[in-house]
Amino acid sequence: MRKEAALSSAPSAATTVGKLFVCFETKPLVATLLALTLVMLLWNLPPYYQNLLSTTRPCSAPPLTSVAAAATTSLLSTNASLPYTATPVAEKKYYSAPKAKPSDTNKRVFEAYGNAAALFVQMGAYRGGPTTFAVVGLASKPIHVFGKPWYKCEWISNNGSSFKAKAYKMLPDWGYGRVYTVVVVNCTFPFNPNQDNVGGKLMINAYYGESQRKYEKFMALEEAPGSYDESKYQPPFQYEYLYCGSSLYGNLSADRIREWMAYHAWFFGPSSHFVFHDAGGVTPEVRAALEPWMRAGRATVQDIRGQVEFDGYYYNQFLVVNDCLHRHRHAANWTFYFDVDEYIYLPDGNTLESVLNEFSDYTQFTIEQNPMSSVLCLNDSSQQYSRQWGFEKLLFRESRTGIRRDRKYAIQAKNAYATGVHMSENVIGKTLHKTETKIRYYHYHNTITVHEELCREYLPLSAKNNVTWFNKLPYVYDDNMKKLTNTIKEFERKTIGTLHSN
Ligand SMILES: *[C@@H]1O[C@H](CO)[C@@H](O)[C@H](O)[C@H]1NC(C)=O
Ligand SMILES: *[C@@H]1O[C@H](CO)[C@@H](O)[C@H](O)[C@H]1NC(C)=O
Ligand SMILES: *[C@@H]1O[C@H](CO)[C@@H](O)[C@H](O)[C@H]1NC(C)=O
Ligand SMILES: *[C@@H]1O[C@H](CO)[C@@H](O)[C@H](O)[C@H]1NC(C)=O
Ligand SMILES: *[C@@H]1O[C@H](CO)[C@@H](O)[C@H](O)[C@H]1NC(C)=O
Ligand SMILES: *[C@@H]1O[C@H](CO)[C@@H](O)[C@H](O)[C@H]1NC(C)=O
Ligand SMILES: *[C@@H]1O[C@H](CO)[C@@H](O)[C@H](O)[C@H]1NC(C)=O
Repeated sequence: MRKEAALSSAPSAATTVGKLFVCFETKPLVATLLALTLVMLLWNLPPYYQNLLSTTRPCSAPPLTSVAAAATTSLLSTNASLPYTATPVAEKKYYSAPKAKPSDTNKRVFEAYGNAAALFVQMGAYRGGPTTFAVVGLASKPIHVFGKPWYKCEWISNNGSSFKAKAYKMLPDWGYGRVYTVVVVNCTFPFNPNQDNVGGKLMINAYYGESQRKYEKFMALEEAPGSYDESKYQPPFQYEYLYCGSSLYGNLSADRIREWMAYHAWFFGPSSHFVFHDAGGVTPEVRAALEPWMRAGRATVQDIRGQVEFDGYYYNQFLVVNDCLHRHRHAANWTFYFDVDEYIYLPDGNTLESVLNEFSDYTQFTIEQNPMSSVLCLNDSSQQYSRQWGFEKLLFRESRTGIRRDRKYAIQAKNAYATGVHMSENVIGKTLHKTETKIRYYHYHNTITVHEELCREYLPLSAKNNVTWFNKLPYVYDDNMKKLTNTIKEFERKTIGTLHSN
């Protein structure tokens, strides 16, 4: 049996249940045994798996098929109706073939039950150019830390021919993974496997370890006949700028999201697009704030709530940014990665276009932050803070210099193979860090889930011209963002109308 995994591996969804029916090129005796095991197995499946089983594809091994089919039919005729609420993975059941007891009583047997993390969990698979593809997913972390799992790619053309390609894997989460780690599998063929555009499928073999014998095979991507379009992978791209947001979670303030969106839609201009990832943070209020921009074609929200089943680093943010990278690799000249409490800013009258022209020889540049207080406001009775936007009233910048702070970054995605949260390490080309006089970002940490008034500590007016120490940190007054408020509000009104109250 080439594919030992067939019975010991688990059904994780309707398609993988189909794996139970993979075709065994084996002797009839083995087939019969397997068929019997399968019948027992089916007998024990909870009713919703029986429903899933009814959708499995047929198998070509005759004895197995007929027995299995008979078992399936008879079981399905008992109509148990269980609510199918949990996702299949949560309900995963693993079975292993019963082992014969050894006669030597000193020979110990290790009985395995269950399987704690999947070999591979695919989030996306994308063509990355005429000859190259990327498959983005999660994999059991210990197996990558302590084992040597590997991958193989194969293109099966609709005309019947097939081509194999070397695969190499990247683990872009810097060891931050938990039960799962992020894996990007790069499949690069020596030529375009779909040259004559007849269509085909990209298949992946995911191996459990060094052995060639134990693996899972799955279809990562399918190209319909005639759908390959070479021009998509060359400039000019659809947008100049793309925003790839990481996982949104928690009780986000819809006001802050509204302000962020209006600001950056203005900042990046009409040739830009925003991709958000909803890991539970897009409440109805937040969605309402984004909706006008989605309707205007400026923003997209991807529902990634299913990620909760897979314990990766912080709502699987490394997975999400890599998926976004490859999904939109040729969508824009520059792809930006930063958070929704961060505001990109150009000091000294720079324009985004002039700055990026200057950086165009670099694949990647990082951006330094201006950390802002989330509580300090001026005690200024002329201001009606409750009606103001966050960046209109939070004007105190923490002013320590010479310390290392987190940075954010932008890349020319076409030259990147995998990416991180603070920068990408898998790129071809140069990275520029010395950017602080050209481009920066204001970081309003700890404001995004605050629903009450942000101004919670008031400083005397003299703090405008002075260093203020607060919680042992020095703050200076910085109203660069405030100066843009009227422009942004006006822009929002013109672009999406007066949907908002202030
Ligand atoms: C099973 O349920 C389906 C629809 O829910 C129904 O059409 C069918 O008659 C039921 N079969 C039995 C054996 O109860
Ligand atoms: C099938 O298509 C591939 C590329 O699309 C081509 O290289 C190959 O020669 C074709 N094979 C046949 C039998 O037509
Ligand atoms: C984006 O790329 C196109 C084509 O390469 C170029 O003409 C344009 O100036 C670029 N825009 C920016 C902002 O880099
Ligand atoms: C704000 O300033 C007024 C006087 O202008 C003063 O009475 C009040 O106590 C100050 N509030 C705070 C919180 O410092
Ligand atoms: C895969 O890696 C090759 C370099 O080995 C690179 O040229 C190609 O762009 C990569 N593909 C993707 C989709 O990242
Ligand atoms: C989120 O915050 C809002 C406003 O404070 C509150 O009404 C709501 O109950 C919160 N939701 C959750 C799930 O905590
Ligand atoms: C700066 O603050 C100190 C005390 O914190 C105060 O004595 C001084 O007058 C302030 N300077 C200005 C210019 O406001």
